[in-house]
Amino acid sequence: MSLKLKMYGEAILRERALEVSEFTEALADLVKEMFDVMYASHGIGLAAEQVGRTERVFVIDIPPESDVDAKGNRLHPEVNMPLVFINPVIEAHSVEMERGAEGCLSFPGMSGEIERWSEVDVAFCDETGVSHALHAKGLLARAIQHELDHLNGVLFIDRMSPVKKALLEGRLKRLARDTKRNRL
Ligand code: CO
Repeated sequence: MSLKLKMYGEAILRERALEVSEFTEALADLVKEMFDVMYASHGIGLAAEQVGRTERVFVIDIPPESDVDAKGNRLHPEVNMPLVFINPVIEAHSVEMERGAEGCLSFPGMSGEIERWSEVDVAFCDETGVSHALHAKGLLARAIQHELDHLNGVLFIDRMSPVKKALLEGRLKRLARDTKRNRL
């Protein structure tokens, strides 16, 4: 595995990723490596910037037992995980929003409640260039919004309440400092 997980403090996490225009073998390799990094870190989603790349690409793999509503009913039995999102666009979303716990592989050990749209319609391509559309709810809708934020240089700490962010401030500073130190 040549790509490494980028932690908070790396400038690339604040960049806006660029549209993919060619569906090459190199793109397929990037996707494969992103899955390797994501699974090695036990994540359910990963955006290209988190491995130091600026393509508009993210991957998601939500286990069936997490793809459920509050009553335990499966939300997306028809969706085959894992999913590859290239040039994703949210085309519609619910008015209703939902608070829920989120973490991020670039912020080890940290989590917070984040408000997201409850449901989203997302259009995207897979790594072969085939177009797809998906109506997502629950954790999948949350993960899509979290990863799409990454492609715009937005991090989940930006969407935390000021109180929660203030509570994390010491740890965030330490993480950013360690990230810079590890890069030297
Ligand atoms: Co993240």
